[in-house]
Amino acid sequence: MVIKWKDEYSCYDPVIDAQHAKLIDLINEMNDVAKLVEDGIDSYDELVSIFNELKDYAVYHFSHEEKMFEEHGYDSFNIKVQKIEHDNFKNKVSAINIYDLDENQDETVRSILDFLSKWLDHHILKIDKKFGEFLRDKNE
Ligand SMILES: [Fe+2]
Repeated sequence: MVIKWKDEYSCYDPVIDAQHAKLIDLINEMNDVAKLVEDGIDSYDELVSIFNELKDYAVYHFSHEEKMFEEHGYDSFNIKVQKIEHDNFKNKVSAINIYDLDENQDETVRSILDFLSKWLDHHILKIDKKFGEFLRDKNE
């Protein structure tokens, strides 16, 4: 599965939505490059650079969200859940050494894309949407 934007992903906040859309774009860009790699076209450096960009952008996005939680007085339990999610993602992603792929390169890249897509889908629908609803209800 490679994630695609759908309306259901809206968290009722244009900045958070734009950041999620950017993460989805980067995953799709990585998928396009993965296809070239599968076809035997040497695009490995590009793949690595998109992966690194995605990691950096995710960290930026998490810190933006974490600032918003404090600013809007999100409750401490949900902030804790969010921070655990963010830390798990950072740990998992930093454990991936994309340079260190074995002979099963295609399969490894596929599994990274699968992980990123599923993680982001869960992060948006189950974790951030809750914060979005909190913001929306607060502004009503
Ligand atoms: Fe998010």
